[in-house]
Amino acid sequence: MKLVALGKEAPQSTLSGLFLHDSQRAQRFTHQLNVGDASVIVDFSKQNVSVEIVESLLALASEAGVQSRRDAMFAGEPVNESEGRPVLHVALRAPSTVNIVIDGVDVVQEVHQVRRSMAEFAHGVRGGSLCGATGKPFTHIINVGIGGSDLGPSLVWDVLSTSLTPALQCAFVSNIDPIDVEQVLKQHDAQQTLVVMCSKTFSTAETLSNSLIIQKWLAASVGDAGVAQHCAVVSVEPQRAASAGIAFAHSFKIWPWVGGRFSVSSAVNLANVIAFGPTVFDDFLSGMRQVDEHFLSAEMDQNIPVLMGLISVWNRSVLGRETQAIVPYASALAQFAPYLQQLIMESNGKHVQNDNQVVTTQTSPVVWGSVGTNSQHAFMQLLHQGTSVVPVDLIGFAQSSSVHSNAHDTLIANMFAQAQALAFGASSEEAQRVMPGNRPSTVLLASELSAQTLGALIALYEHSVFVQGCVWGINSFDQWGVELGKKLANDLGDQIAKGVSKTDQDASTHQLMQWYLKHR
Ligand code: F6P
Repeated sequence: MKLVALGKEAPQSTLSGLFLHDSQRAQRFTHQLNVGDASVIVDFSKQNVSVEIVESLLALASEAGVQSRRDAMFAGEPVNESEGRPVLHVALRAPSTVNIVIDGVDVVQEVHQVRRSMAEFAHGVRGGSLCGATGKPFTHIINVGIGGSDLGPSLVWDVLSTSLTPALQCAFVSNIDPIDVEQVLKQHDAQQTLVVMCSKTFSTAETLSNSLIIQKWLAASVGDAGVAQHCAVVSVEPQRAASAGIAFAHSFKIWPWVGGRFSVSSAVNLANVIAFGPTVFDDFLSGMRQVDEHFLSAEMDQNIPVLMGLISVWNRSVLGRETQAIVPYASALAQFAPYLQQLIMESNGKHVQNDNQVVTTQTSPVVWGSVGTNSQHAFMQLLHQGTSVVPVDLIGFAQSSSVHSNAHDTLIANMFAQAQALAFGASSEEAQRVMPGNRPSTVLLASELSAQTLGALIALYEHSVFVQGCVWGINSFDQWGVELGKKLANDLGDQIAKGVSKTDQDASTHQLMQWYLKHR
């Protein structure tokens, strides 16, 4: 209730006024985290919050039991209640000295075993001892997967391939649109291509379809008997791939307790482990682990993912901001907004709580975004002067792997300028030129974009999502909302295969189906 009252008063306190009355505001609302030799600072000072608001949000977190739910998650308790299972992406980056026992099995030891076999496999492919069926070394990898089995590895590939030289080139196939897979295959030589098929469930239509298309393409070059040697499966259920007629000689385990959108620290990242080597993957996981430790041990009022999550709750549930923009000032992070769309919207896009009661507040914002400075020449106009207020996360790096440091300085100057313009605006005699200001942003600034800081950045958002889910009382780890569409698509697909449209379905769909059947 106090937050609602504070929300009503909030428009009266402008960011200009808040900075004017508190000379320590910038420092007070900025938090630093060391990640190996690098550091990350997160500046919340340009959010529409005061010390009192943050204190009330922290009280809300405490009422919602964020700390005890966090501890329950790390301990392997079944916090994914609707599916009755633990949520243990944190076990994927835990050191081997940690023990988390599920059904009598220490899952951390299992994770390390899989990491060792991935490393061995990666060394074999990189060194050429594991080669294609015609004896040629692998030079390319095609990763097949969708959702978390695609967005994570393709984001990591984009980032790492900007600053490191991969031993093999990676391409990603996700959509069931056959044009996509065909385009990728055109650019590959089957004899030198390794295919990594990632699917937690191996019942995902897109991944099955693309995998089968690729298997035929491989068979045409290396013969039916050679296909398996070119294929690795990453799944909880590799036997499902086999029963679908997919041949593979290598398989790597993931576990039911890894959610698809939280799987970037698992074997789903196999393509990058091979391309950049296991040590780089270790660095990535170490960045994530350092954030896990911070999330576990930092005081709540100093805890960056807790504050990120609570400020998102403030923006969405109290101030009613419907969307959240993600604007990294690094082209290598062009896929970060789509990655976070899945992480945030699939986790918290829900209106029913754990106790089956309908929520009485707004939950996940619509997440969108693109890289700066491109976004400044596309959608930032609306953020500065539109009728909707859009909180934005601006993400930048002090160092660049480019030799063109002047251009990098200009890039970052633009990021700071956007945050400044959004917050403080500008006056003008002419109403159309007035920049209202008081528009919220968080700036996340890291010393460099490396495997480690990328891991840290992702883990910050993972835990922020968790905090938001706790406050809203929803289960951030299931995704029942995607199931109906899959079922209906199967049924409509059957009708199309038979060349008929059922008359007992809704009139609009029936009409569309008839038109499609006639014109396809
Ligand atoms: O349908 C949604 C979803 O289940 C995501 O949560 C998941 O990341 C994606 O599909 C792919 O699932 P899988 O890895 O099982 O193929």
